[in-house]
Amino acid sequence: MFNDINLDEIDLTESPPEEEPNRQYYFMAKCRELIRRKKEELGHPLSFCIKTFGCQMNARDSEKLQGILEKIGYIKSKSEMSTFVIYNTCTVRENVNLRVYGRLGYLHALKKKNPHMMIGLCGCMMQEPKVVEKLKNSYRFVDLIFGTHNIYKLAELVTVALEQNKMIVDIWKNTDQIVENLPIDRKYFFKSGVNIMFGCNNFCSYCIVPYVRGRERSRRPEEILEEIRKLVNDGVKEIMLLGQNVNSYGQNLAHSLRFAGLLEQVAGINGLERIRFMTSHPKDLSEELIEVMSKYSNICPHLHLPVQSGSTNILRQMNRRYTKEFYLALVDRIRSFIPDISLTTDIIIGFPGETEKDFMETIDVVEKVRYDSTFMFIYSKRTGTPAAEMDKQIPEEVIKERFNFLLAKVKEISRDKLSRFEGKIMNVLVEAVNEQDPSLMTGRLANNLLVHFPGNASMIGTILPVYLNCCNGFYYIGSII
Ligand code: 5AD
Ligand code: SF4
Repeated sequence: MFNDINLDEIDLTESPPEEEPNRQYYFMAKCRELIRRKKEELGHPLSFCIKTFGCQMNARDSEKLQGILEKIGYIKSKSEMSTFVIYNTCTVRENVNLRVYGRLGYLHALKKKNPHMMIGLCGCMMQEPKVVEKLKNSYRFVDLIFGTHNIYKLAELVTVALEQNKMIVDIWKNTDQIVENLPIDRKYFFKSGVNIMFGCNNFCSYCIVPYVRGRERSRRPEEILEEIRKLVNDGVKEIMLLGQNVNSYGQNLAHSLRFAGLLEQVAGINGLERIRFMTSHPKDLSEELIEVMSKYSNICPHLHLPVQSGSTNILRQMNRRYTKEFYLALVDRIRSFIPDISLTTDIIIGFPGETEKDFMETIDVVEKVRYDSTFMFIYSKRTGTPAAEMDKQIPEEVIKERFNFLLAKVKEISRDKLSRFEGKIMNVLVEAVNEQDPSLMTGRLANNLLVHFPGNASMIGTILPVYLNCCNGFYYIGSII
């Protein structure tokens, strides 16, 4: 999409430019030459494989990495038997973190059989100094380590890694730089994520994101709108505006445009059929945003509104800066404007000091709000966050019991809630051939619910009216009308 700069016209006899993105295009040209030579030497094309852990932000970052790698001559592969394997890591919870170390052992075995293989690690985990220390000491076979702030530099980093046969580590603590106009390879031709901001300033006491993703930085609205217009021209029907807390969009920019205003401008883009956004912090969700959502039919009637806990006491300890009552009143206000909106949430179970009473407050919120779906997370202690230092960490058995209790509750509610569309005809954006049954297609309703229905692959990327026959728990079985 942004492949405007022709690499053939770059003069590699000159020294690299200082300004971005020109510097990166220079290194893409240089790296492409190195890759071409390597391909001749090995007698086969060089392949790459990116494994992405974690959230939508990481998925979008991986598309950027992929765009650069394809531009410099690597061929995409799903297999970790590739010449270049990158793990784009997540560190929000410890268990995702541990999975990466486990898989590195497997990569090491592959690399022993194939010495030309290159291993790269990037993403949130790399922003933790203790992780990088461990890798430097015990995982010397890793070739390239970089963080969340400099993924745009991939071509430059690969050039250095190919030229110097040693471990390259390039981690930045923070940045206020946003580099625009680099190549991106999208996973889907009909939908795309669009970053509107990076980083987070909220410092919820359990969360490591502000430490690894840095301070909040918003992209300029002109750049965002231009990117979306190009995507729509390219055939994209649905976009997801991405940010750790989209509701505080624009605070570091010189003008007064906030998220509601940006969303309204996005909604006005001709040909854009669906707009989603993630994630909304309840404390910053404005009245204007609710109004804009109710005004435009192309803004999907879905809001992911993480509550984290229903106990005002725990919310205070979490530094969430709202109370149970504030949250419930907000939900009422949203529903008074958009009655059929689909609300989803995140809940953490077992935050330090969570009593049975606190937990029952969470159950109370779940019963009152009746979410379409709930993502439940067992509290994970992240070193360096204030919560890791708090007394009264909750025993595992208690957490398990609470988890199972909440799970049963949210399942019962979701099953009941989600069936409310049975017998209706609703538009579905067709996404893929069903993995279990190839005679079925899988698509999404505007409210994000999945629908499976008989069809064929030519429907992918189109929006079709589908009759919703029955709801099987978390998805619908439908038929095209
Ligand atoms: N432990 C458990 N869950 C967490 N989350 C963030 N940090 C932690 C943690 N330390 C959850 C929150 C957030 C979601 C993306 O991950 O619920 O909304
Ligand atoms: Fe983490 Fe809170 Fe920021 Fe979300 S808003 S990324 S939970 S600190």
